[in-house]
Amino acid sequence: MRPTTSNEIRKAFLDYFHEMRHEIVPSAPLPQKDNPTLLFTNAGMNQFVDVFLGKEKRAYKRATTAQKVMRVQGKQNDLENVGPSARHHTFFEMLGNFSFGDYFKREAIDYAWGFLTGVMELEPERLFATVYTDDDEAADLWTRYLPGERILRFGKDDNFWEMGDIGPCGPCSEIHYYSGDLADINPAGVNNDNIPGYVEVWNLVFMQFERQKDQSLVPLPHPSVDTGMGMERLVRVIQGVESNYDTDLFTPVLSRVQQLLGDSDAQRDANYVGYRVIADHGRAATFLIADGVQPGNTGAGYVLRMIIRRAARFGRKIGFHEPFLGEVAQVYIDQMGDNYSELRQRRDLILHTLRREEERFNRTLDKALLHLDELVDDLHRRGEKQIPGDVAFNLYATYGLPLEITRDVAGEQHGMTVDEKGYNAAREAHALASGSGAFANYVVGANVYSDVLRALIDGGDLDESGVDYDPYSGASLETTVLALISDGQRSNAAHAGQRVEVVTAATPFYVEAGGEVSDTGRITTPGGVEMRVDDTRRPVPGLIIHSGEVTTGELKPGDMALLEVDRARRADIRRNHTATHLLHRELRAHLGRHVAQAGSLVAPDRLRFDFTHDKAVDRATLGRIEAAVNEAILVNYPVNVAHMGQKEAIQAGAMALFGEKYGDIVRTIRVGEDPLPSPLPGGEGIRGSLQGGEGNGAPYSFELCGGLHVDETGEIGLFRFTGEEAVGAGVRRVEAMTGRGAYQFVAERLNLLDRLAGKLNAPVAEVEQRLEALLEHDRSVERELDAAGRRLARGQFDVLLGGLMQVKGARVLAAQVDVANVERLREMADWFRDRVPSGAAVLGAVSDGKPFLVATVTDDLIARGLKAGDLAREVAKIVGGSGGGRPNMAQAGGRDPERLADALAAVAGLVDAALKD
Ligand code: ALA
Repeated sequence: MRPTTSNEIRKAFLDYFHEMRHEIVPSAPLPQKDNPTLLFTNAGMNQFVDVFLGKEKRAYKRATTAQKVMRVQGKQNDLENVGPSARHHTFFEMLGNFSFGDYFKREAIDYAWGFLTGVMELEPERLFATVYTDDDEAADLWTRYLPGERILRFGKDDNFWEMGDIGPCGPCSEIHYYSGDLADINPAGVNNDNIPGYVEVWNLVFMQFERQKDQSLVPLPHPSVDTGMGMERLVRVIQGVESNYDTDLFTPVLSRVQQLLGDSDAQRDANYVGYRVIADHGRAATFLIADGVQPGNTGAGYVLRMIIRRAARFGRKIGFHEPFLGEVAQVYIDQMGDNYSELRQRRDLILHTLRREEERFNRTLDKALLHLDELVDDLHRRGEKQIPGDVAFNLYATYGLPLEITRDVAGEQHGMTVDEKGYNAAREAHALASGSGAFANYVVGANVYSDVLRALIDGGDLDESGVDYDPYSGASLETTVLALISDGQRSNAAHAGQRVEVVTAATPFYVEAGGEVSDTGRITTPGGVEMRVDDTRRPVPGLIIHSGEVTTGELKPGDMALLEVDRARRADIRRNHTATHLLHRELRAHLGRHVAQAGSLVAPDRLRFDFTHDKAVDRATLGRIEAAVNEAILVNYPVNVAHMGQKEAIQAGAMALFGEKYGDIVRTIRVGEDPLPSPLPGGEGIRGSLQGGEGNGAPYSFELCGGLHVDETGEIGLFRFTGEEAVGAGVRRVEAMTGRGAYQFVAERLNLLDRLAGKLNAPVAEVEQRLEALLEHDRSVERELDAAGRRLARGQFDVLLGGLMQVKGARVLAAQVDVANVERLREMADWFRDRVPSGAAVLGAVSDGKPFLVATVTDDLIARGLKAGDLAREVAKIVGGSGGGRPNMAQAGGRDPERLADALAAVAGLVDAALKD
């Protein structure tokens, strides 16, 4: 049966190549970690670059994938076409088959032809092939299937494929399909946007070269094959529809949107651009979140934020007023979750992230659009054609309106544009000012490290795989010093007192990875040289350097050396690393399966763990998680390391990190063996925690990890949280200590408690009670003092009332009193108003060497123009300070206590001036 649904077609493709002995490799994650110039995977071959270049070996020479791809950046940016265009997407699936030095052009063409005409049953007479200008070999191979007039030659732009400015590349051959009336078929339609009915479906790249930085082409170790077929286009051809959006990849979502809006078919057709943008962006956002991206202001996070907001804006245009993208995501999760299991696993996170981002944006959206409309109209009236860059950036900074939306709206109204250069300049200035430095350039370039590595390999000191890295077998190793680097240059010796970087043939030092910090330790030689190692790193793949200071003797290349890791420090690190796995497991058990690791630090003195969760974890829950981790420690689970196939590990339930690239063979850490150990005698709590596990008979924790771990969880000793906080939108951070650090922490606290008990002269058990009694005593003393203070103030006040001045019929009091705080002064002012029906008072006092004053005015005088706020302001000036407040009550403070008397003396005059008769 001919496959017809999108799910069938994807499966038919992978099955076909599997039958042709290709390994089915899972899609690489969308975010790119290894390539600083590329945010997202943009071709199926990205994950195989090193294999093509011969730098990485795999167990297979043929592979096939359905790869998740995003094209929203740089040369391959389709964003603005999404919506109006029937065939452009931000996110799409690319089906591909790859040969790493195995088959070449002939088989690539044979396989493609076999799949399209054999499995997909496309009519051969509707197919065209294009080849690179002088690729006679490929043209000849095609003559076996196609008549000469349907084999076309094109130049570099169409038929020479390059990944980017540098990297693997080669001539390619494309297969195009014609869907119109066969009587009208015409080769002129191929690669011609003006003639409808022709679509490129598949690109077969004959990988032969590596483009170097100087633009020269160096042959690859072996000619290879990289192909890419746009899944959406293939499905459209098979399903015989006009637009990718009419295929079953999108129709369920479009129907759902229509249903939510209650639109008629005619309304849906009229609003097709909005429908398509929502379908496309909703899908891209769903996949990005599933791969661990969270909305943010830079990089991948920005793209996610931008597409969610752009979809939300189009949603607003066609009638949505509440968040709706979660509904869109649900459809995709159900529809594509079988092939992309991360969608199902992260369902909660996806729905939650979309809702939160939409809500956040909706709060400012209407205001932003209104503002933008006015702005555009205003510019238009003045004859301007462009929105200035800083204005567009301000729209983002103020309302969260991404440039892409401003550009959309500007274009929709009067065909305006945005000064994007100016926008970038404003954004950069802002980043610099805010110190985020997110726009630092990435500098590639030859460096001393790659030169040293090359020389050592060429000289036979190292084999192609570089320094023998083995932190797992032990903490010390005897080996040879191969090279020294000092001040960025190779050097022949390093003497005592000198800082140096040392390359050895092998090393037991762990190099920072997966959040775990590097080992430190020392290097010694039989000749008595000693060096302290403060850091270990891998500046280029294959090369490991130990940096530190020589403390005794002179170190030289060729020396035999003993490398020793600081074992106690490493033991602390191992404890923290295994504890991190226990913590990860318990966070998911207690908070939910949306919790995913978003970063971690494993240091000797602490561990830090960032995870996706959008609210603070309350104390009680933290307490339960801490208890559960400690119970897992007490069970004393064995910790086992095993290497296995990546697929096998993931199928067995191993937790892998978001967006992390793993090799085919992965290292796994399993805490707790199957079957589970019997609980400790009488350990009810422990049994309870085991039953709360992620599945019956599953290990307690199972993760892909390259780090160092304890042999049994009991070694961790004690686990103790030291902090919990937010680190970004939807990401929380916890910090904790284990082992020696936790012990020290607890011991210090207990000692403190002992000292407190000593001071209180009470047993520890009574400290709290005693403290409460003391505090109560303290409060009652304070109350008494307060009452006494008030009595004193009352006494002073009564005296003062005897000597009021008369100003224009009002009774005026201006006096310095002896009180300790401004509250008491205000109280006195209240008393004044109670006792004097028509009057004004300014009372001053000095506390901590600073003058402060309170002014009050009765209502009848306010009506005559006298305001307490004005009085306070004026007297404040005299004492060198500031003041103000309401018309009936105001206060002032100053710096100059000597001038308080002058200020008070000025009051009568101020009242006189302000009071109208
Ligand atoms: N890597 C090729 C492409 O993306 C197949 O078109």
